[in-house]
Amino acid sequence: MGLIFFIIAIFLATCSSINSCPPSDLAALLSFKAALHEPYLGIFNSWTGTDCCHNWYGVSCDPMTRRVADINLRGESEDPLFQKAGRTGFMSGSISPAICKLNRLSSLTIADWKGISGTIPPCIASLPFLRILDLVGNKISGEIPTDIGRLTRLTVLNVADNNISGTIPRSITNLSLLMHLDLRNNQISGTLPRNFGKLRMLSRALLSRNRLTGSIPKSVSNIYRLSDLDLSFNQILGPIPDTLGKMPVLATLNLDGNQISGILPPTLINSGVSILNLSRNALEGNIPDVFGPRSYFTAIDLSYNRLKGPIPKSILSATYIGHLDLSHNHLCGPIPDYQDINFWNEPILFKKFEALKFAGVTPYKGYPI
Ligand SMILES: *[C@@H]1O[C@H](CO)[C@@H](O)[C@H](O)[C@H]1NC(C)=O
Ligand SMILES: *[C@@H]1O[C@H](CO)[C@@H](O)[C@H](O)[C@H]1NC(C)=O
Ligand SMILES: *[C@@H]1O[C@H](CO)[C@@H](O)[C@H](O)[C@H]1NC(C)=O
Repeated sequence: MGLIFFIIAIFLATCSSINSCPPSDLAALLSFKAALHEPYLGIFNSWTGTDCCHNWYGVSCDPMTRRVADINLRGESEDPLFQKAGRTGFMSGSISPAICKLNRLSSLTIADWKGISGTIPPCIASLPFLRILDLVGNKISGEIPTDIGRLTRLTVLNVADNNISGTIPRSITNLSLLMHLDLRNNQISGTLPRNFGKLRMLSRALLSRNRLTGSIPKSVSNIYRLSDLDLSFNQILGPIPDTLGKMPVLATLNLDGNQISGILPPTLINSGVSILNLSRNALEGNIPDVFGPRSYFTAIDLSYNRLKGPIPKSILSATYIGHLDLSHNHLCGPIPDYQDINFWNEPILFKKFEALKFAGVTPYKGYPI
C-alpha cells in the first residue's frame, strides 16, 4: 500500500513538472508581459497557462532543467502572425526588471518594436548565462548598465537604433567573448576606452551616429579578428593610428563625418581594407603614392578633407577600385593616365574604376573635369 502510494506520488510529481515551468520563471515572464503593450499582433495571447516552456510565443526553455533559456521577440518577422496581420510589430511599455529573475537566460532579443521605452534594467548585468542581448530598434533611453562587464559569456551586444545616452561603460572591455558590438544611432558620448583592444574576440564594432569624442585608441589594432570598424558621424579627433592598416582581417573602415586630422596613413592604402570611407574629416597632406596589387577597394571615399598635391600615379596599379571619390580637397595636377581611364568615351578601365569623382581637383593642362 505504501509502495503504491509512493509510485502515485512520483507519477503526480513528474506529471506536474511536465505541465508547468518553474513558478519563479512563470511569475517573471508574467511581470515582463504586464509591462508591455502589443496591440496589433497578439503575440502574448499564447502566454497563458502554467507551462511557459510549451507554445509560448518567443519563449524557449532548456529541455533538461526546464528553465527559460531564450526570449526571442522580433517586431519584424516572417512569422505567420505578422503575415496575417499584414504589418510589422509595434509595442510600447518598458522592459521589466522582473526579467532578471530568469537567471538561466542565455539569449534576450526584444528587437524592432519601435515603441518600447524606459531603460535597460541594470540588473541585467547579473544574468550569469547571458550570451545575446539584442534590443535594437526601440526607444530605450538611459545608460548601458555600468557593470555590463560582468556578463562574461556575452557574445552579442546590440542596442542600436535607440535613444541611449551616457558613456560606454569602462567595464565593457571585460567582455572577453564579445564578437558583435552594435551601438549605432544613439546619443552615447565620451571616449572609447583606451584599452578597447582587450576585446580580443570582437569582429564588428559599429558605433556610428553617436556623440563619441576623443581619439581612436591605438589598442584597437590589437583586435586580431576585427573586420568591420564603423565610427562614422561622431566627434572623433586626432590621427588615424597607422597600425589600423596592418590589421589582419580589417575589411571595412568607416570614419567619415568626424574631425580626424593628420595624414592618411600609407598602410591603409596597401592593406586588406576594401571599403575605406574617410569623407568629411580634416585629413591633411598628400594621398600616399603607394597603391599596389594589394589595393582592392570596393569603395574609397576621401572627399571633403584637406588633402593636397597630385592624385598618385600608382593608383593605376591598384587591382580594383569600384568607387573612388576624391572630391572637395585641395588636390591638383593631372588625373593620372586619363587616356587610360578614358571614361568619357569607351571605357577601357571602367571595370577597374567604376565611379570616379574628382570634383574640385584643379586640373593641369585644361583636362575636362
Ligand atoms: C532621447 O532622450 C533625450 C534625453 O536623453 C530626450 O530629450 C529626447 O526627447 C529623447 N528622444 C526621443 C526620440 O525619445
Ligand atoms: C574587469 O574584471 C576584473 C577581473 O574580474 C576586475 O578586477 C575589474 O575590476 C573589471 N574591470 C571593470 C572596469 O569592471
Ligand atoms: C562616405 O560617407 C559619406 C558620409 O560622410 C557618404 O555620403 C558617402 O556616400 C560614403 N561613401 C561611400 C563610398 O559609401
